[in-house]
Amino acid sequence: MSIEIQQIRMDDVDELYNIELECFSTEEAFTKEQIRHLIKNKNSIGFVAKVDHKVVGFTIGLINKNEFGDLIGHVVTIDVAIEYRRKGIGIKLLKKLESEFKTKNVKTCFLEVRIDNKAAQSLYKKLGYVETVCLKDYYGKGVHGILFKKKLK
Ligand SMILES: CC(C)(COP(=O)(O)OP(=O)(O)OC[C@H]1O[C@@H](n2cnc3c(N)ncnc32)[C@H](O)[C@@H]1OP(=O)(O)O)[C@@H](O)C(=O)NCCC(=O)NCCS
Repeated sequence: MSIEIQQIRMDDVDELYNIELECFSTEEAFTKEQIRHLIKNKNSIGFVAKVDHKVVGFTIGLINKNEFGDLIGHVVTIDVAIEYRRKGIGIKLLKKLESEFKTKNVKTCFLEVRIDNKAAQSLYKKLGYVETVCLKDYYGKGVHGILFKKKLK
């Protein structure tokens, strides 16, 4: 199976939204409007993974400055369609996003994940992310998150 990683495009929104709905409940998923807004953001970077010209996964990150003026990368979302999971697509997308962060001089990146999302946590740990703090009620009352962080070399 050949996996192609390409820059995200506004034309991809319908496919991205369908993948969001496979990954999350309607209440948790980004809406099409939110996805468009993220892609349009001048500080965002996004990539899609394609298999046989079909979008099967994507990731979007944002770059912001912290209070010391350092550039910080934020992995906003990473989704892979169910049928295409455990084939190395998530890792490929995240590595590509990190590499783009690095070319833009980002030294640290972080992301939030639900405490019960063991698949995503395994992926992040595999790529060297470390748990920092628990984010109480981050995903709603009683649904906690974990903040993961990675120093990019
Ligand atoms: C998390 C997610 C993006 C992983 O994508 P993927 O393409 O299946 O991941 P990969 O195939 O690249 O997996 C890389 C490694 O991550 C870990 N991993 C991925 N899925 C896992 C699972 N279900 N259980 C345990 N470990 C898992 C493994 O270490 C895996 O390596 P291995 O297959 O050699 O054991 C995918 O499960 C997904 O889209 N989930 C729903 C959306 C989501 O939760 N996004 C993250 C929000 S914070």
